[in-house]
Amino acid sequence: MTSLKVALLGLGTVGLGVFESITQRKEQIEGLIGRKIEISGVLIKNQVKSRDLHDGVFISKDFEEVITRKKPEVVIEAIGGIEPARTYIEYSLRNGCHVVSANKDCIARHGKELQKIARENGVRFVYEASVAGGIPVLRTLRELLAVNKVERLEAILNGTSNFILSMMRSEGASFTEALALAQQKGFAEQDPTNDIEGIDAFYKSMILSEWIYGDQPDWANVQVKGISGITLDEIRAAEKIGLRVKHLVSIDESLKVEITPKFVDSEHPLYSVENVNNAVLIKTDLLGDLTLIGAGAGAKPTASAIVEDLISLYLTLENLHFNIPKRADNSLGEEGAAEN
Ligand code: HSE
Repeated sequence: MTSLKVALLGLGTVGLGVFESITQRKEQIEGLIGRKIEISGVLIKNQVKSRDLHDGVFISKDFEEVITRKKPEVVIEAIGGIEPARTYIEYSLRNGCHVVSANKDCIARHGKELQKIARENGVRFVYEASVAGGIPVLRTLRELLAVNKVERLEAILNGTSNFILSMMRSEGASFTEALALAQQKGFAEQDPTNDIEGIDAFYKSMILSEWIYGDQPDWANVQVKGISGITLDEIRAAEKIGLRVKHLVSIDESLKVEITPKFVDSEHPLYSVENVNNAVLIKTDLLGDLTLIGAGAGAKPTASAIVEDLISLYLTLENLHFNIPKRADNSLGEEGAAEN
């Protein structure tokens, strides 16, 4: 069987995280999908970054060259922003490539039309990493809660904001200090305005709304407020009476979406979600409440979601069973084991 060729677009924090995850776990991935995997090309903005790559990996500043040179089967888009990412995703889908992306801005705006293009071209467009970083929230909702009705969802969706609020509360850091640290750690966007003004959480909530309810509210009707106005004094005063400030997103069945900082008490399931973590509290009719908590930003957690998405394109149930390592005490031979 031919090797699985994967083109990687972008080599910033996320792209490099993906590159390292694939190269470091190559054997494991190959065992899971039952094929060799090869990074067929990397699209970069700055040639200087080439020194980070293993020998022999093709890098270029030219998208067409990366996408046509070795005919990749999958394109991982890790550029971010709307353009040229949207154009590259569309081109890849139209040319028969599956696309994996973490690009919330682009998916919130163009996800529906890109999904349609994917369907028309018999390929898949997956974007688990676009919402809540490394937390597998989209597939949990779609595949594991398929029969449940999601009545409401409450979430912390911006890692940078949660990190800043945590640092201010626990370390007494100023807003500016905490933001600088979030940037240094690679949590914040290049321009952190979207993080601290609630816009990043807004994009993620639009993806969730469409994912769960098949539609988004009119953007003009969504109240969006970030954490930029929160002071250390407010956080300290809240702490004295047992409250914490959390930047919360709420989405309900009527497509009412609200994004704003709120005081929560210790009884609230998201009260203890600290640092760069995100959390999603899903309220369903059958299961009741389910809370997922995990790293919401950073190279590794985002790369984790992207690489898991990549594997999920190929990991059928049959594949999964077939590739489970055989137990040492398995007395059935190769053929016997396969028959069972
Ligand atoms: N800047 C984003 C955040 C990265 O802080 O949540 C993950 O989308």
